[in-house]
Amino acid sequence: MAQAAVRNGPIGKPRSRVDGHAKVTGEALYPSDIAVANPAYAFLVTSSIAKGRVRDFHLEDARAVPGVLDILTFTNTKGAFKTQPNPGGVSGGATTTLESPKIWHDGQIIAVIVADSYEAAREAAYRTVVDYEAETPAGSFDNPGVTEQAVSEVSEDHEDPRTGNAATAYAGAAVKVDARYATPPQHHNPLELFDTTCVWSGQTLTIFEPSQFVHGLRAAVARQLSMNPEDVRVESRLVGGAFGSRGGTTARTALIALAAKRVNRPVRLVATRAQGFTIATYRAETRHRIKLGAARDGRLQALFHDGWEITSRPANYSVSGTDSTARLYRCANVSTKVSIVHADRNTPGFMRAPPETPYMFALESAMDELAVALAMDPIELRRINDTDTDPIKHVPFSSRSLMACFDRAAESFGWRMRDPKPGAMRDGEWLIGWGCASAIYPAHVGAAAARISLLPTGVARVEIGAHEIGTGTQTIIAGIVSDRLGIAIDKVFVELGSSDFPPGGMSAGSTHAASVCNVVAKACDEVQRRIAQSNEQPSAGGAIEVYVENLPEGVAPDAVKKLYAGQPSFVEDDKHARYAFGAQFAEVRVHASTREVRVPRIVGAFAAGAIVNPVTARSQLMGGMIWGVSAALHEATEIDQRTARYTNSNFADYLVPVNADIPAAEVILAPEEDHIVNRLGIKGVGELGIVGMNAAVANAVYHATGKRIRELPIRIDSLL
Ligand code: MOS
Repeated sequence: MAQAAVRNGPIGKPRSRVDGHAKVTGEALYPSDIAVANPAYAFLVTSSIAKGRVRDFHLEDARAVPGVLDILTFTNTKGAFKTQPNPGGVSGGATTTLESPKIWHDGQIIAVIVADSYEAAREAAYRTVVDYEAETPAGSFDNPGVTEQAVSEVSEDHEDPRTGNAATAYAGAAVKVDARYATPPQHHNPLELFDTTCVWSGQTLTIFEPSQFVHGLRAAVARQLSMNPEDVRVESRLVGGAFGSRGGTTARTALIALAAKRVNRPVRLVATRAQGFTIATYRAETRHRIKLGAARDGRLQALFHDGWEITSRPANYSVSGTDSTARLYRCANVSTKVSIVHADRNTPGFMRAPPETPYMFALESAMDELAVALAMDPIELRRINDTDTDPIKHVPFSSRSLMACFDRAAESFGWRMRDPKPGAMRDGEWLIGWGCASAIYPAHVGAAAARISLLPTGVARVEIGAHEIGTGTQTIIAGIVSDRLGIAIDKVFVELGSSDFPPGGMSAGSTHAASVCNVVAKACDEVQRRIAQSNEQPSAGGAIEVYVENLPEGVAPDAVKKLYAGQPSFVEDDKHARYAFGAQFAEVRVHASTREVRVPRIVGAFAAGAIVNPVTARSQLMGGMIWGVSAALHEATEIDQRTARYTNSNFADYLVPVNADIPAAEVILAPEEDHIVNRLGIKGVGELGIVGMNAAVANAVYHATGKRIRELPIRIDSLL
């Protein structure tokens, strides 16, 4: 089935990764691998209390370690450095600086040791004695001292989606669900640790750092150090895992730049795995209350979705996923509200499908509960409530293939063989459960710029400040150029990840493929036009070089200028709702006596407009689905409530699935053409694959056991 869909749909040529060979042979150089002359090494000292202040540092023993060059603390960095919220909206910097003695969270950077060697810097960090004035912290929900605010009160841009009169409709509904759900904090654990290398050459600062937005990082660091952005360069050719963790700017970059200036040498920081839990951002824990009211035939009459999210004390970061959950189904009466809860924690940030992953767990679990209450097949419930119109804005979807995805995935999964009665399907000691859920993710596109040179040798060279975070950006760009200019793909060289190149935008929000491919296609067309118009031939008259900017309809006219200044802007469309959709299915097996949960197979079907390259798209979607299983069954950062400290900040205790946890994952690319989202019709697939999978697993666990688990992750003790 999947293969037929690939051939028939608006789906590009399958191509393997152009960066694959270098990556599997170890030749690929990530930012911390780039050799710099005469580097010094930094090691961070982080706070061992979560709330209070530093009274004093005792640095004599640290300074005495041979090789120590400098120690930065708030006492000697005052005024050199100013934390500013960055353009990506992740205000990680707001809570981790050396600007004052104040401690906002456990693991906050309070000193930077610089030494001739990594070992000397680390030794000095261990010998640093800090005298704290500690207060009792409140680390999460339910701890006395946390404070709650409605997001609509703290953010002028925020509007809680709402329509009709949900209270009245709910009161009169024949069938109701009223339930609370919870998701845990989760932390990025990219294989490439959080690193920064800063090199000064006169007044020019070059930063080697894994980044999802080199122009954004450049602008943010320039602001933090009161520099001219022209004097800052960011190099991030390859990124060893990102998924949101490298979208924003945190405090470490400016700190290391400052350290390099002070010691007059390049300085390299590679933070430890544990420090990555507190110096970078993470997915915050959330809570939800959902109320659904439906008629006996399954039609939704009322939907309430209230969400609460943890954030730090000084920041108002929130993901506000009701923007998607309020729009998924036909419903005339919707009421939503998102609140943030300030705790003594580091500031959260993006993690793959930041809003939809937790919020859709809640909604799609509630929909499954409603299907049970109605004694209706959960796919039929979704079909009855499918809609072509955004229920909040009352505008049409640019395209919407939700039920086509359900039909394809259900057929491949074998859903019609399902006995709906919980616990009815069994294989010896194992209870079998089948569950499903919808996936939705917004389809945005932004402005971008690119340069292409066609050389007399028949080689094309692309320069774009886009990002290869493992998603296949280099490969899809090479594929577009190969197709459009009729050049073999091995004659296309794609250079990206540098702020020296025209800005490709931020690799985030599943916008990158659409933004980048559209500008590269436009540049190729310009090359063709130049060849046709002037009889220009690269073989005759040297290289043909074109620089183009792409402003998709609906972006601000100064969007490219803003992009150079580190501010992404995306299309605003008042006339359409733009989303990609999918359908997720999971089979679980729950052991009848030990309650161990296994997932032998998962199936997802997705419709996301044009698929540039089915190989890399499938990898993205499969990776997302696996991450969804991980969120459902494995991943959670544990917090010691007494100290507000993460207790499993390492790869041994922070559980992620291994191959044996995910035996069979099928990805179906449902063909879909969308002539509205952008010229090439690309919606993006980076995040869609994770959305809904955690609910599909939870719904399957209910089907296997009859036990509804409303708090993730689902572990053995949840089922005893
Ligand atoms: Mo993605 S979580 O928008 O980097």
